[in-house]
Amino acid sequence: MDKNGPIGIIDSGVGGITVLKRLLEILPEEDYIYFGDTLRVPYGNRPKEEIEKFTREIVNYLKKQKVKAVVIACNTICSSINKNDYEILMFGILEAGIKSAVEATSNGRIGVIATKRTVESEAYLKGIKRLNRNAMVFQKACPELVLIVENGFYEASSIYTAVKKCTEEFLGKDIDTLVLGCTHFPILLPFIERVVDNKVTVVDPAIKLAHEVKKYLVENNLVKDKKGGQLRFLVTGEKENFIKVAGTFLNDKHIDVLRIAIEELK
Ligand code: DGL
Repeated sequence: MDKNGPIGIIDSGVGGITVLKRLLEILPEEDYIYFGDTLRVPYGNRPKEEIEKFTREIVNYLKKQKVKAVVIACNTICSSINKNDYEILMFGILEAGIKSAVEATSNGRIGVIATKRTVESEAYLKGIKRLNRNAMVFQKACPELVLIVENGFYEASSIYTAVKKCTEEFLGKDIDTLVLGCTHFPILLPFIERVVDNKVTVVDPAIKLAHEVKKYLVENNLVKDKKGGQLRFLVTGEKENFIKVAGTFLNDKHIDVLRIAIEELK
């Protein structure tokens, strides 16, 4: 494996930039290829088999781009695939989210907001209970928050209303930890923090994931040794909303995005 090869980051859409941002903070000299399947987003309402098929296509495409590792930023993908099937160094957000939640909670009462597919897979619920069998996990699917982000935001009041509606589920459940189990949600963090009780720790799994990637690369002598990190964005759908959301979140007004046709993945 070439340690100077890029790191591939896969998400169903723009949400994975919340993972990219964390990686850029601690591994700024790496090269990254971000792949957002913006034509087929949302994945959250799709069956497992379809998500596996899409992931296979994207991973194969990234392998041709000579990536040294793939970061599955998308919780929904992680809840649908077996990472061992892919014959490439792969990191997943879900394990990082599970560990972060277990570390963050004091009372063992944890809320998880995610997509329908992630909730139905019970990947968070089972993973958290594996590490802390006394934990109580309360899950809620919030697909409407994915659309708000993908569509390039609405006005603040309607975002607030949607976030409130989604998190109301947890009122009275005495949770002390809320996991953002979908990569799109950290983009709405200011709204989420306004709504949840201030004794609740809001967990963004991307933080631990980025540290795990760094630790692995360092320990296995896989850190790039050339200077100057490069960033490429590939999307399958329209570029405009992606540029708007990613540019705002990354505070970079000049992101270069290439649209590729689904046929190129086949
Ligand atoms: N970004 C994805 C996740 O982390 C899912 C959004 C979607 O495509 O429904 O789960």
